[in-house]
Amino acid sequence: MINLELHENYRFPFPADRMKKIPRSGIREILMAAEGRPMISFGGGVPHDSCVPLPEIRDAFEAVFTNRGARAFRYGTTEGEKELREYVASWLKGLGLQAGAGEILIVNGSQQGLDLLGKVLLNPGSTILVERPTYLAALQAFSPYEPQYDEVEMDDQGAIVESFKEKLRKVGTFFYTIPSFQNPSGVCISVKRREEIVNCLNETGCLLVEDDPYSQLYYDYPPPAPLCAMGVKNAVYLGTFSKMVSPGFRLGWIWTSNNNLMKHLITVKQAADLCTGLFQQYLLLEVLRRLDIQKHLKRNRIFYASQREKMNHYMSSHLCGLMDWNYPSGGMFFWATLKNGLHAGKLLSRCVERGVAFADGASFFAGEKDFSRLRLNFTQCTEEEMDRGLLMIAEEIRQMPIN
Ligand SMILES: Cc1ncc(COP(=O)(O)O)c(C=O)c1O
Repeated sequence: MINLELHENYRFPFPADRMKKIPRSGIREILMAAEGRPMISFGGGVPHDSCVPLPEIRDAFEAVFTNRGARAFRYGTTEGEKELREYVASWLKGLGLQAGAGEILIVNGSQQGLDLLGKVLLNPGSTILVERPTYLAALQAFSPYEPQYDEVEMDDQGAIVESFKEKLRKVGTFFYTIPSFQNPSGVCISVKRREEIVNCLNETGCLLVEDDPYSQLYYDYPPPAPLCAMGVKNAVYLGTFSKMVSPGFRLGWIWTSNNNLMKHLITVKQAADLCTGLFQQYLLLEVLRRLDIQKHLKRNRIFYASQREKMNHYMSSHLCGLMDWNYPSGGMFFWATLKNGLHAGKLLSRCVERGVAFADGASFFAGEKDFSRLRLNFTQCTEEEMDRGLLMIAEEIRQMPIN
């Protein structure tokens, strides 16, 4: 264990007040405590090893050394390599979003994009409107800037628009949404709901922050066009190569057609890390040159769809009557609710002792926590692990006292 206590001679309050406002991901601490023990994990949101295009990456390494040499190890521009920004712009055009390379900032994963947006847009006390539930690590990225959160409830079509406009009027900063196969709920906002949301945003002048890592992971039908492509006046789109190629590249992007906002984002990106690593950008460009991305995505969708089926099968075999869950049409997660008022955090502690983990759902709520929720990833485990891991969860649930 690392001792985080500072020496007693240190005369200033530690840590800074803002640290108290950052929500913790409970699962990390529990897993750290269980480090070294074998663990079946339904916790993360990581692509399956077989979905990472290793042969293309290997060849790309060679090509970067041959074609770029030492130039690959310089500092790059803060905005990111022009060639990669051009690739992203043409990718976005394919989604219906008329983007130019000059409207794109390459970042170290869209996670960095969330942090930079928080830095540029939030004052202490600013209010952000988020979905209920929402992505835990977005809350972690925004919270150091000391905002308040207002939540919009969701149904299976996405954010419910009734109270939405009134909330947007009050918010003043932005609405953060993951419209396609949301993390954690798996919900994909319907076309009609997207249109309603766009109208509300335009009427109130509120800024949209659209986070879209999962739209290419659809298993039944493609999601509707991004909200940013539907005529929102004030909009930011966050994209990433993490789920399409691999999170190890740490490459994502921010798109906005607002030059003023882009200027500020570039300033804070410069302060954060000067630039995204040039080597990883060249490497990805070489991979994208070799990889038929549409074929690659199609293959991954087929694989993940079968993972989803297997997971649903073993959940039905072991967990029926113990929890309810959604059946996601895309993304990486099942979002479940324990019956009988059982506490998912307490269940998680018991399960980790047995060697199986999932994500405790409470940390995905910006407002009042719902302790009955849990998130189960289906992309990574083998069929045997699903069978064994879900059975262990069921056994632990049966042993828990009912409130
Ligand atoms: C909704 C959402 N946004 C952003 C991210 C961060 O992705 P990246 O790897 O691009 O930083 C994730 C990763 O799981 C995510 O689920």
